[in-house]
Amino acid sequence: AEIFTYDPGFMATASCHSAITYIDGEAGVLLYRGYPIEQLATKASFLEVAYLLLYGELPDERQLLAFEEAMARHSMINENLKGFLGGFHYDAHPMAILVGVVGSLSAFYHDSLDINDPQHREASALRLIAQVPTIAAAAYKHNVGEPIVYPRNALRYCANFLHMMFATPCADYKPGLIAEKALNLLFILHADHEQNASTSTVRLAGSSGANPFACIAAGIASLWGPAHGGANEAVLDMLEQIGDVSNVPKYLDKAKDKDDSFRLMGFGHRVYKHYDPRAKIIREVCHQVLEELADSNNPLFELALRLEEIALSDEYFVERKLYPNVDFYSGIIYRALGIPRNMFTVMFAIARTVGWVSHWMEMMADPNNRIGRPRQIYCGPTHRDYLPISQR
Ligand code: CMC
Repeated sequence: AEIFTYDPGFMATASCHSAITYIDGEAGVLLYRGYPIEQLATKASFLEVAYLLLYGELPDERQLLAFEEAMARHSMINENLKGFLGGFHYDAHPMAILVGVVGSLSAFYHDSLDINDPQHREASALRLIAQVPTIAAAAYKHNVGEPIVYPRNALRYCANFLHMMFATPCADYKPGLIAEKALNLLFILHADHEQNASTSTVRLAGSSGANPFACIAAGIASLWGPAHGGANEAVLDMLEQIGDVSNVPKYLDKAKDKDDSFRLMGFGHRVYKHYDPRAKIIREVCHQVLEELADSNNPLFELALRLEEIALSDEYFVERKLYPNVDFYSGIIYRALGIPRNMFTVMFAIARTVGWVSHWMEMMADPNNRIGRPRQIYCGPTHRDYLPISQR
């Protein structure tokens, strides 16, 4: 019989060559196309980073302008999608809506099915980055029972998203600079993270030649899980459940108890065995953003800081190298921006769409791309004969 390496969770299997993102989990280093995340997060705009991830180089002024124009040009969703959106129950989770509506885009853009044409591939990539925020905001509007707000071409990417979220037909919404800056930073931090579960899902789906909208819908589905992007929503639930610093030891005991399914959400990472550099950046700006948004003394942030402090002095977490990850603090900022909790993972999906399409584009241009087809170690019954039902 053939012998295969058993590698559950792909702990030791590299599935591709990639030149997009580099992580050194021991040292806590994260680079996008070679640029340290700390520099990009504080100096670049999200669309500059999106261009970098997609095309490999930072854009010059002319290239950035053209990219921003392309984003504005593609940001409207087909009017008929409103009918599809309207079919969802009013309290549908916005991630459920996102999975469905993004998947449906291939029904609107037939050129996306022609995955062998690099120009069509690029057009699909641009449409996805431009339209996912519009769909995300429309999902929110559906939840709160307000009409969809159309994108505004004159607004920058993050400001435009806030506009689509919070404007109404009877009142304009002028996105504040602080909110826009905070969103820009969070989107940059979430934009890519090499072969995580959702990106690997996009690649596996795409390896069969499936169209890009279907592949990204698959990525969104994978991101939704609480062990992945769903953790930012779960962190706030957890902080509220803990409620007060005095309860922290009790919850840490629960997290350590192997018979209890409770885990400290926003803690631990498959690759980082050191502080997640993204969490460090978010924690630093959290103070600043909360202060600027007049939300200092935010009790959940105070609780999160104390929880981190207590966990990091606990032998269990030290031994297992469990540090706060990107999701530990991001929800606190989203909440301060007025984004409801069930939209947190959607926010992650908007930003990660850039990473997903970059990986899909890289894979499609890779001559070594083959259909992804893991093997298994069979552990079921050996050969046995069918028995008529009367003899079973
Ligand atoms: N709380 C308590 N114990 C934990 C935690 C946690 N959050 N994370 C890992 N452990 C323990 C785990 O029980 C195991 O202990 P032992 O060796 O005694 O059995 C050990 O640490 C190793 O954990 P693992 O589950 O084998 O590690 P993994 O690489 O398979 O899982 C993870 C990584 C992120 C899924 C996991 O740490 C986790 O569930 N964390 C909470 C959810 C979370 O915050 N997810 C967001 C991840 S980062 C952003 C993203 O991807 O979206």
